[in-house]
Amino acid sequence: MRVIRSTTQMQRLSRQLVGKGKTIGLVPTMGYLHEGHLSLIHRARKLADVVAVTIFVNPAQFSPTEDLRRYPHDERGDLRKIRKAGGDIVFIPTSRDMYPAEFETWVEVERLSKTLEGKVRPTHFRGVTTVVTKLYNICRPDLVVFGMKDYQQAMVLRRMTVDLGYNIRFVIAPTVREADGLAMSSRNAYFDAGGRAEAICLYRALSTARAMVRAGIKRPSRLEREIRAVIRATAPTSRIDYVAFTDFATLQPVATVDRSTICSLAVRVRNVRLIDNMKMA
Ligand code: PAJ
Repeated sequence: MRVIRSTTQMQRLSRQLVGKGKTIGLVPTMGYLHEGHLSLIHRARKLADVVAVTIFVNPAQFSPTEDLRRYPHDERGDLRKIRKAGGDIVFIPTSRDMYPAEFETWVEVERLSKTLEGKVRPTHFRGVTTVVTKLYNICRPDLVVFGMKDYQQAMVLRRMTVDLGYNIRFVIAPTVREADGLAMSSRNAYFDAGGRAEAICLYRALSTARAMVRAGIKRPSRLEREIRAVIRATAPTSRIDYVAFTDFATLQPVATVDRSTICSLAVRVRNVRLIDNMKMA
């Protein structure tokens, strides 16, 4: 496994690999890897000749009030896990390399990035799409794997990939969960035992809503009331950023829930911001 820290070196290596006719599978991450990330690496391993994983805590997608400074990291642990999962290349650029002082070029997906997360975090997706564009250009992937856990991010990036004319296969992998249902997230590391117990509120609320839909209740306002009640009961001090029932592809709110409806939640549990989502059918 090769660990590369310089953009120029990574550009050179990807050009060589493309020249040799190797297909490159790319898995972008911000590190502190868990089973969710590793599932993406396993998927890429099956689909590409060479698997490149990137670790970069991208400052451009954090607002000044967010957790950039305390975002967890464990490079040695990450490298061990990536090697075991079958990664061939780990690209770990520096902020200075990715965003030199003169940097002023941004990639923005106009509409899809304005709803849900985008309403609460107005500059977040612009940071994500810009960094992923750079990673595409530097690593030259034939395919990329992103997680359904960050569902809107996957939709925004898929739009960007098509709109900018990349010839990249776009794979979305299912959310990997803890035994009790909590979606795996690097941010789960912030919780003590009490917070961890409350963090289950998102999965519990989504599962309740899905059960109601299966029982024939299809009105979003009715389902949202129940979701809010479950969250309040499980995590009394939590704050809900949004509960949304939207169409899977367009991210537009639906009037009645059907097979292509997804419910997305963002909740602050003990000051840790968690997101999760579930297909309602
Ligand atoms: P990060 O939060 O590290 O996530 C990296 C990838 O892992 C994303 O595609 C995310 O959706 C996926 N992932 C996270 N938790 C998962 C889980 N429980 N199950 C399955 N997949 C999961 O998302 C980012 O980093 C950044 O925004 C990035 C795309 C790297 C751009 O900076």
